[in-house]
Amino acid sequence: MARIVGGLTTSHVPAIGGAIAKGRQQEPYWKPFFDGFVPVRAWLAEHKPDIAVVFYNDHGLNFFLDKMPTFAVGAAPQYRNADEGWGIPTLPPFRGHPQLSWHIINRLVEREFDITTCQEMLVDHAFTLPLKLFWPEGACPVATVPVCINTVQFPLPSAKRCMALGRAVGEAIASWDSDSKVVVIGSGGLSHQLDGERAGFINKPFDLKFMDSLVSEPDWVTRYSIHELVEQAGTQGVELLMWLAARAAVPGPVRRVHGNYHIPISNTAAGMLALEPVA
Ligand code: DHB
Ligand code: FE
Repeated sequence: MARIVGGLTTSHVPAIGGAIAKGRQQEPYWKPFFDGFVPVRAWLAEHKPDIAVVFYNDHGLNFFLDKMPTFAVGAAPQYRNADEGWGIPTLPPFRGHPQLSWHIINRLVEREFDITTCQEMLVDHAFTLPLKLFWPEGACPVATVPVCINTVQFPLPSAKRCMALGRAVGEAIASWDSDSKVVVIGSGGLSHQLDGERAGFINKPFDLKFMDSLVSEPDWVTRYSIHELVEQAGTQGVELLMWLAARAAVPGPVRRVHGNYHIPISNTAAGMLALEPVA
């Protein structure tokens, strides 16, 4: 059976793509952010996953306000990146894994998750940047399965529902008849609000408690409604649901391999966590 080697979570901000393209990783503004990824790359070199299942939120590149699935799973042989209007370079296509995609899709629908299946899917910075941060050298070495959760247009799925989705995805991976090693990625958050009266809002105590809870008490954040999460983490901070889904996909208790937290990148509290199952 396939094995989940761990869960990696990170913030995404378009400006990260600009910093990578311009080679700014060692400049004072960026260094505390990029340095956080060095130990995780060593962990990846040791564990060598074959496939990454990526929980992320599309920001209007593939889904727009006219058609907004709550949960969508990619089932394409490749996923193209495209110009999002941020001035960041468009990356080459990412390799898909239709066989694992369809296995996950079948299992999710059996378990009554009413998902959208996408045999074509453009992927935006939320999908591409984590892969570039974890595997900076050359083409992405892992095949990918995108799992998109709506955090853009209300109503949004609850934390409890995202946790259930993550758990079901994890169980689907673990039931897949393959000797592949799979890493689960969660892309988004942490606290940030880009617009409105509270633009620039960041909540460090909440973020740190949330990061800890993923190890010690993963369902802690499910006590908050979506509107309470917006209050606590900001309108776009609800992207932390991706971290929750990724954590829930990793079976059993986990150990923190590495973590980083840095304020600010753009208007965002930038966090990163690497978790592995306790053997
Ligand atoms: C920005 C965009 C994002 O998608 C995000 O999650 C955080 C910040 C930005 O435009 O800076
Ligand atoms: Fe975002």
